[in-house]
Amino acid sequence: MEELQSTLHAKNLLKQLLFGRWQWRVLVLMCALTSALTGVLSPYYQKGFVDGLLSGHPVVLSLWAAFALGLLSQFLMQANVWLTSRESIISQKHIGDALYHRVLEGPGGFLAHRPVGEAVSLFAVDLPGATAILDQALASGLSMLFPILIAPLALHTLYNIPAFASWLAILGLAGINFLLAHRQSHFFYRFKQLAAERTGLVSEWVQNIRSLRILGRVTAAEKNIFKMRVKETDNRKAMVTNGQIMNTLAGSSTYLLNIMAVMLLLNLRGHDSPPTAGELLSLLWIVGVFLSRPLRQLPWTLVIVLDSLSSIRRLQNAFNSPLTPPQVRGAVGAHATAPEAALEVRKLNLSIQNKKLLSDIDLVLTPGELVGIVGEVGSGKSLLLQSLVGAVGATFERFALDGVETQGPESQEVRRHMAYIPQEGVTVSATLFENVLFEYGETSFTHSAESTHVQTSLKVSQFDPEEEHLSEGLLTEIGERGVNLSGGQRQRIGLARAHFAHRPLIIMDDSLSAVDVDTERKLIDKLLLGDWAHATRLLATHRTAILPHCDRLLFLQDGKIAMQGTYIQLLERSSAFREFIFKETVPAPISTQAPPVVSTEGPAPASAPPTEEEMA
Ligand SMILES: Nc1ncnc2c1ncn2[C@@H]1O[C@H](COP(=O)(O)OP(=O)(O)O)[C@@H](O)[C@H]1O
Ligand SMILES: [Mg+2]
Repeated sequence: MEELQSTLHAKNLLKQLLFGRWQWRVLVLMCALTSALTGVLSPYYQKGFVDGLLSGHPVVLSLWAAFALGLLSQFLMQANVWLTSRESIISQKHIGDALYHRVLEGPGGFLAHRPVGEAVSLFAVDLPGATAILDQALASGLSMLFPILIAPLALHTLYNIPAFASWLAILGLAGINFLLAHRQSHFFYRFKQLAAERTGLVSEWVQNIRSLRILGRVTAAEKNIFKMRVKETDNRKAMVTNGQIMNTLAGSSTYLLNIMAVMLLLNLRGHDSPPTAGELLSLLWIVGVFLSRPLRQLPWTLVIVLDSLSSIRRLQNAFNSPLTPPQVRGAVGAHATAPEAALEVRKLNLSIQNKKLLSDIDLVLTPGELVGIVGEVGSGKSLLLQSLVGAVGATFERFALDGVETQGPESQEVRRHMAYIPQEGVTVSATLFENVLFEYGETSFTHSAESTHVQTSLKVSQFDPEEEHLSEGLLTEIGERGVNLSGGQRQRIGLARAHFAHRPLIIMDDSLSAVDVDTERKLIDKLLLGDWAHATRLLATHRTAILPHCDRLLFLQDGKIAMQGTYIQLLERSSAFREFIFKETVPAPISTQAPPVVSTEGPAPASAPPTEEEMA
């Protein structure tokens, strides 16, 4: 076992499978040969018995011999089925052990940082697929091969039918069958591959349905699944048709061979010495029984062999592959520069269960503007933002981008203009890289431009994988099955995702609420007022550090815009706003002694928002 594990990597897997436990393989070979010999001897005794019977001298011993030989032949064939099944299971265990070591456990195993389930599902089909060459192909292959080799010799010995003619006929049939089997194995392979891909897509979709809905990617995900189903159906149609042709050909060819053999025999003998009844019976036995089973099996055995070889190749690749992450395509155009967009929304209204939650909101954002939305908890900040990304079914009189009336925020085209960062910061079960890319179906990175851009996005979002103790860097698995991130970490990944997506309109729902004061400072300076200076930004917030930097503030009360203006204007004009700011900035009695925020420009309200630790 140990030895097998260490040598499997380098050695030829096919060779291991066929000759690994050679004593047992020889036994299988001997069984198959003996089964074929006894099988072809049986009709010889049948012939003797029938001819004796018809001439009035039946030799009962011949009948017994024919019966015993036929029985022995069948027994040996079944013994082979049992033997090869056993060999198959033993080989599965060996390969499974070696695979586990190589892929998951070994130094640098390329799936070591992935969930075990994923590795298992990756090779779940290939393991039994590879060993099918033993339990299905070897047993039936040998029980086909020997009859095919021996039957023409028997026909020659008993009836003087030229052996090469029989072999030629069989070879022709085998050739046609091989072509069909080759096609069929291709369809089989596609079938497995497509099914696995679809299962993956569906489970992603189910797991992330809520996040996908918020981020407007539900239709994209569903389209993906549907496309996959169409491909699968096409493949299945082709597969079934090809299979039917194979069955028809295999079934009818044995009848044809029967007729051909009898005609050939009659022709060879001429009128002078017609074949005896015994001769005809045993001829039909040889061609119609002894040969017909192998010929019927031939196409499907070939399919199994080819299919099994493809599984063996995949496993062999897993053993041979250098220990680097799997390589997959890079996203196209994910961060192509888009024109800047201003938003104009008229008479936004939202009721849920007959409760009016947002009333007659008018919102006009000029290009490059930074607009803050403030208000008490429950005043409707989050609902307003969710309305703008079409997540809650609000109604509008007008919803225009860049001065052009649109179909509203539920249309994909409009959604592509916007980046939305939910308050809780969505992450999905995938690598950090994929979470920033947020491209459906991406599993790894190869594109250096892409990975550089992801790194930059994380950097400006103040997320350094090393400082966050993500040991695998961009490839660290996060989400349910990986590292669990704090609210602040999730928010910063949300910011990085928005940065990567590079949309002209960025909508943030309290996206700095869970980060500590220092980080908030850096995010405001470097990202919101830095890299994103030219984007149109809308930010709901209960933190006050950003407020002086906003071009304009909307003060929400009970689902209505109660007032708007700059920070200074609102402070001057509204006692409700002053009260609100005062409440938000006075430290809670048992809060830790966080330093007051000093803003770089404008008046700075002292604030002690909860730190990341407190929020988590
Ligand atoms: N899905 C919903 N169904 C019914 N009421 C909701 C729903 N979501 C939010 N609300 C209510 O709408 C009001 C505004 O909520 P929200 O926008 O989350 O406030 P905030 O300003 O704190 O972000 C709250 O009273 C809240 O209870
Ligand atoms: Mg909210």
